[in-house]
Amino acid sequence: MKSNDDGLRLLLSKIYEERGFDFRQYNTGMLRRRLARRLSTTGATTYLEYARVLDVDSSEYEKLFDDLTINVSHFFRDPLVFELLYKVVLPEMIAYKAQHGDTYIRTWSAGCAQGEEPYSVAILLTELLGGQLNDYHVTIYATDIDRNALDKANIGEYQESGVLEVKKGFLDKYFSHNRSYKIKESIKELVDFSFHDLASEKFIAPPRSVFANFDLILCRNVLIYFTRELQRKVLSNLEAMLNKRGYLVLGEAETLPMDMQKDFICKDGMCKIYQKL
Ligand SMILES: C[S@@+](CC[C@H](N)C(=O)[O-])C[C@H]1O[C@@H](n2cnc3c(N)ncnc32)[C@H](O)[C@@H]1O
Repeated sequence: MKSNDDGLRLLLSKIYEERGFDFRQYNTGMLRRRLARRLSTTGATTYLEYARVLDVDSSEYEKLFDDLTINVSHFFRDPLVFELLYKVVLPEMIAYKAQHGDTYIRTWSAGCAQGEEPYSVAILLTELLGGQLNDYHVTIYATDIDRNALDKANIGEYQESGVLEVKKGFLDKYFSHNRSYKIKESIKELVDFSFHDLASEKFIAPPRSVFANFDLILCRNVLIYFTRELQRKVLSNLEAMLNKRGYLVLGEAETLPMDMQKDFICKDGMCKIYQKL
């Protein structure tokens, strides 16, 4: 087992050194399962043999990233979370902004996959702000390490399976439907997609966000792939990026470490929506 562990460590260091992606702090169980697929497809029997495959066939890197960055998502994933955002969190945020004459609404979807999550938030903000949308500066920064996913997000075209949770009214209003479902320009304009690695020490916020006072950060179904240590690092960074009274939304299987919970009000434990104190 030891040589297996060493092999994995060497392989991950090689990927980092050659491509700059740091999977060394990802959950080892997930990495092993995902790598097993690449090993079996390429006929490699050990991690070191697989490292040699990467040396001779650089296109294998692309397939490896595809397998390691799991970008399964869909619009309004976990509908209860979006119901709470729509009925409680966003109205509360907008009312507070209106009271304080603050016209900036800054949101970050960290680990946005093909854009389903940030576009879902954009739809809700458009609905809630209605005729006042143009009185506000709404930006939803949406970031991911998977450049293919970001390209698809920018195109904004989805199969039916991606939009099954979208209410009929929203589907008619915010998508054009041909063979696929294409998100309307008015929604696209609210979202700014860019590359950002949550595990990076260098960039703590989306590169184009300039300053980092976010009102709402969604980081859902990403942390589960990280070690506890990296989860903690990312979460403390996200906390620092949030405004006072800003909201943090995690995925169903993700939670704030106990000692960070004192810094937040739990808006809804089941849905993992927290408000920074
Ligand atoms: C399962 S998807 C979650 C998408 C969406 N947040 C949701 O809940 O439906 C996980 C996404 O996290 C991205 N990801 C993985 N590691 C990342 C990292 N270090 N920094 C940023 N995004 C990352 C993957 O590329 C993938 O698109």
